[in-house]
Amino acid sequence: MRAIYLIGFMGAGKTTVSQELARRLNVAVYDTDEEIVKRTGMSINEIFAAEGEEKFRHYEAEVLRSLPSTNAVIATGGGIVGRTGNRLFLKGKRNVVYLHAELESILARLKEDNSRPLLKQDKMKTAKALYESRLPLYRETTEFEIDTSVKTVQQIVDDIIQCMKK
Ligand code: S3P
Repeated sequence: MRAIYLIGFMGAGKTTVSQELARRLNVAVYDTDEEIVKRTGMSINEIFAAEGEEKFRHYEAEVLRSLPSTNAVIATGGGIVGRTGNRLFLKGKRNVVYLHAELESILARLKEDNSRPLLKQDKMKTAKALYESRLPLYRETTEFEIDTSVKTVQQIVDDIIQCMKK
């Protein structure tokens, strides 16, 4: 099986969905953020603070290319589509699913969350601006879009498995 890549904004549920999807398909699961943390020995917040966003994006691009491209489900960081090279890489892989959630539900989920360095200041305004700028990038990177706003994890996983059969 070709690897399935999940893309989408912070708080869209990529990590949770990736774990359940991998369990159902009986394949390995990876998360680009987790891999970066493992390889650098630093948290995402620490990397942003000590080395800056560009360096984080460099690690992210490297990790994306180094993960297995078969028998795996890969959850990616919300900003992975920012680099043209990453978008092209993902488009080439074809098995990419965009987990869409409306801005309102994303904001509600992120409200109490302090783990995202990009949202340290002016959280709601920053999240809205990032969301609007990235929406077209997620959509150009994949043919499969799943609206997660009103679905359970099981329904989302069922939808992805159906999409992958097409
Ligand atoms: C980011 C999303 C985060 C993480 C980092 C930057 C972004 O991943 O990669 O904080 O730019 O949207 P999640 O989408 O898993 O929260």
